[in-house]
Amino acid sequence: MLPAPRFTAFNPPRRILMGPGPSDVYPEVLAAQSRPTVGHLDPLFVGMMDELKSLIQYAFQTKNEMTMAVSAPGSAGMETCFVNLVEPGEKVIVCRNGVFGERMRQNVERMGAIAVLVDNEWGTPVDPAAVEAALKANPDAKFLAFVHAETSTGALSDAKTLCALAKQYGCLSIVDAVTSLGGVELRVDEWGIDAIYSGSQKCLSCVPGLSPVSFSPAAVEKLKNRKTPVQSWFLDQSLVMAYWTSAGGKRSYHHTAPVNALYALHESLRLLAEEGLENAWQRHHEMHLVLRAGLEKLGLNFVVAEDYRLPQLNTVYIPEGVDDAAVRTRLLKDYNLEIGAGLGALAGKAWRIGLMGFGARRENVALCLKALEEVLN
Ligand SMILES: Cc1ncc(COP(=O)(O)O)c(C=O)c1O
Repeated sequence: MLPAPRFTAFNPPRRILMGPGPSDVYPEVLAAQSRPTVGHLDPLFVGMMDELKSLIQYAFQTKNEMTMAVSAPGSAGMETCFVNLVEPGEKVIVCRNGVFGERMRQNVERMGAIAVLVDNEWGTPVDPAAVEAALKANPDAKFLAFVHAETSTGALSDAKTLCALAKQYGCLSIVDAVTSLGGVELRVDEWGIDAIYSGSQKCLSCVPGLSPVSFSPAAVEKLKNRKTPVQSWFLDQSLVMAYWTSAGGKRSYHHTAPVNALYALHESLRLLAEEGLENAWQRHHEMHLVLRAGLEKLGLNFVVAEDYRLPQLNTVYIPEGVDDAAVRTRLLKDYNLEIGAGLGALAGKAWRIGLMGFGARRENVALCLKALEEVLN
């Protein structure tokens, strides 16, 4: 027998999360998560799941039937989209302007498919002209994949234009909306997005670990007509949907749903619907303007040009001679405030300041500016 380890209960402090995610979770969401666990096929739970599906449809602005939450984080949502749609040997145009576009490439290649890369400089959006050139040069491409809001840089790409290009050239679009959902305009049906995934822990201000996804009728058709089985049993949408839809009033067991985490997502999306999507987009924009004015006053410069800046993820260069890690450690220790380090090409060069969901509010902006001013001085 190994001796039983004895620890005290884990009791984290209340941090103010202003990094690239997870973001501050709504108190109502934390309360929802701690409600009694019921069976995942309990009729009351199933009723909640029906509501949850319509809340996800509202957040994505879609009527897509195949809409649900993957029981795993955003990376699993990404993999769900690629593994269900892309078959070995197929060509995918993958746009790379940061860390997460590169992850799309890795997904495509691990699936035995071919990634045609459209590279854009870090901190810039995906260039529609470069995408069109790639679509023209690769008439056999079946998909266009890109990240709407690149969390590694803070750049917003024009999803509407990119999806219209995909359609024009006969491709299905696969869109990463992990950081964009709830923070900036996103209209799945109107923009003709075919497959989209997000994460619970960014602008939805829910607990981490869930990934809302949605597939258009055209994407569902592609899935139905696959010549090869979906490589992943767990992520196979045709199996998962038997649990997420009550066909003939019956749901069948696929996996044990993360019951309490789904209560949390239901509550966070309910709060989003109560606020109204457009109001939430506007709030993120307004808080970004207040933060931007303060950061500029401190002499901090943005990495991304104004036209493409994400309001929910503000990336600023670290001033010359300032110790990146020392500043972030002091913010955490003295102010309970977390901001994000730079990622990939921006590691050690930039900070990423998140204004996501419940975190996009005036008192957070004020605290962040005051703390940065004191620490930098
Ligand atoms: C744009 C983007 N895509 C995908 C992911 C992966 O999500 P997760 O960390 O929830 O697996 C992230 C996480 O930060 C992200 O920002």
